[in-house]
Amino acid sequence: MTINRRTVMAAGAAGVAAAAVGTAPAFASDGAEPRGERPMKEPFGTLPDGTRVHRWTVAAGGTRLRVLSYGGIVQALETPDRRGRYANVSLGFDNLEDYVAGSPYFGAIIGRYGNRIARGAFTLDGRTYRLPLNDDPNSLHGGDKGFDKRVWDVEPYARGRDTGLTLRHVSADGEMGYPGTLRVRVDYVLTLRGDFRIDYEAVTDRPTIVNLTNHTYFNLAGEGGGSILDHTLRIAASRYTPVDSTLIPTGELAAVAHTPFDFRHGKPIGRDIREAHPQVVFGRGYDHNFVLDKGLTDAPQHAVTITEPVHGRVMEIATTEPGVQLYSGNFLDATLAGSSGKVYRQGDGFCLETQHFPDSPHQPSFPSTVLRPGRTYRSTTVHSFATL
Ligand code: BGC
Repeated sequence: MTINRRTVMAAGAAGVAAAAVGTAPAFASDGAEPRGERPMKEPFGTLPDGTRVHRWTVAAGGTRLRVLSYGGIVQALETPDRRGRYANVSLGFDNLEDYVAGSPYFGAIIGRYGNRIARGAFTLDGRTYRLPLNDDPNSLHGGDKGFDKRVWDVEPYARGRDTGLTLRHVSADGEMGYPGTLRVRVDYVLTLRGDFRIDYEAVTDRPTIVNLTNHTYFNLAGEGGGSILDHTLRIAASRYTPVDSTLIPTGELAAVAHTPFDFRHGKPIGRDIREAHPQVVFGRGYDHNFVLDKGLTDAPQHAVTITEPVHGRVMEIATTEPGVQLYSGNFLDATLAGSSGKVYRQGDGFCLETQHFPDSPHQPSFPSTVLRPGRTYRSTTVHSFATL
């Protein structure tokens, strides 16, 4: 099994040009590697309070990304398959109204705290803070108006040679119950080889907690392409964090060996998803944090490889984070129709949310999510695409 990166790049330049629509930046169709196209901005609707939302398009190295200022949502991510045919591999909607009406965090930036905080309360330096209980009895993904529902300031990325977008949001002191004014910057970067890198930075003026991630649901067969249970997943994690029935970690770092959670050697996501293992029952499938063997690192290191067998798309994830949440789209229940008009059923998308562990404020043995004034929160995750 050989992973072919050069095929991806060569097909990429021509393929994206063919797929370009409207005023999207056209790539040179001479087969040359695309570089540094200026991001394109277009209207994407108006929120009920009158705020205008825009959609930005960026392309490089055979990957095209569409991002909304609302929620920093990755609305589309196009990559070629092994025959050079492009598809959007991220779930989402083609209009703002559907995102506002009720999106299960499709493509969004998650903050201030990715995943759950038990009973929606935490204590820091002797003071207790109360958060919205938007996932009764817990707080989920930063509360009922988290970063996924904020309108971000977006501008073209201007560091280095890569192209992309810089998104900024200032979260007020006390917003959703969290202390401190938090200034957040998220860079969505496409590298010259078509990798999609996300760099997060945050600073605060009072001690607080931070755990940022991105909630893109992927289907490497293409959005609306049916079940992801045949995708082969490899996670470099010997342990995971088991949860209680409300999906709060028990504090244990349990071995994956001899359980459905053993993805160390690669297996289809669906192979063990119907095992009557208590953790699979609690999660209604996979909805668990994996403890990456590499740990918390300064530079992104390989964590995950996922392969779609029919079209041959491969995605690798490298991260600085110590954990990754595998969510197998368990709560998709055929009530939402995505951008291609197809209804999403359970298991039609997967998320791999790089993160610190859920409920870290209640687990002193987990890596800390506390951010203090004078320090900068930093996190990077890179998605690389190839075919085989
Ligand atoms: C959580 C799931 C939740 C989903 C929201 C995931 O990160 O772990 O429990 O249902 O986000 O769609």
